[in-house]
Amino acid sequence: MLNVALPKGRLGNQVYELLSKIGYECPGMLDDNRKLVFENRERGVRYFLVKPADVGVYVESGAADVGVVGKDILLEHGHSVYELLDLGLGKCRVCVASKNDWTEDTGRPLRVATKFVNIAKTYYASINREIEIIKLNGSIELAPLVGLSDVIVDIVETGSTLRENNMRVFTEIVPISARFIANKTSYRFMNETISNIAERLREETE
Ligand code: PRP
Repeated sequence: MLNVALPKGRLGNQVYELLSKIGYECPGMLDDNRKLVFENRERGVRYFLVKPADVGVYVESGAADVGVVGKDILLEHGHSVYELLDLGLGKCRVCVASKNDWTEDTGRPLRVATKFVNIAKTYYASINREIEIIKLNGSIELAPLVGLSDVIVDIVETGSTLRENNMRVFTEIVPISARFIANKTSYRFMNETISNIAERLREETE
């Protein structure tokens, strides 16, 4: 049985459509219910619906053999997994953003609000800028608006959250997309199955 960790939500649904096209369909997956585990014994597949930020934890530990996760999560947590394929889905960017009229005071540490603490630290270390991290869990854009931080480091997809709050991108740190990942041990022991899925997904997303 192949255990697949899928992120709950639109990306997970898109990836499930792809997997069902290549023979890993599972009845009930797209129904509107609260179930978290779906299994198709005939096809030898079991899906777990996971919070997007937790997919890497399931795959690294081996609770899931493979999964789909945003590159942002992989960069932030540095999970020890194999990244087999860029699916080209869920495209966005991790950026530094702030109010349209923000100007930097280089005489003091920059206050950075983010949920991507490691990405922010690595980026600012690379440009030798001293910072103070303010760790938030959501609605990051609010922080500069109310004076909690100078800038944010966050995902920008369409840019509408920034626009509607009179903010803009100052620097793009890294482009992001969804990746197909595998547990290292599973990849060794189920190599044919997992490589075959990666190959078929590559064909479907090209
Ligand atoms: C993400 C991100 C931005 C927004 C960007 O938030 O943190 O707030 O989407 O998308 P946009 O450029 O298309 O406006 P999410 O909706 O995941 O919620 P959150 O605020 O709880 O992080």
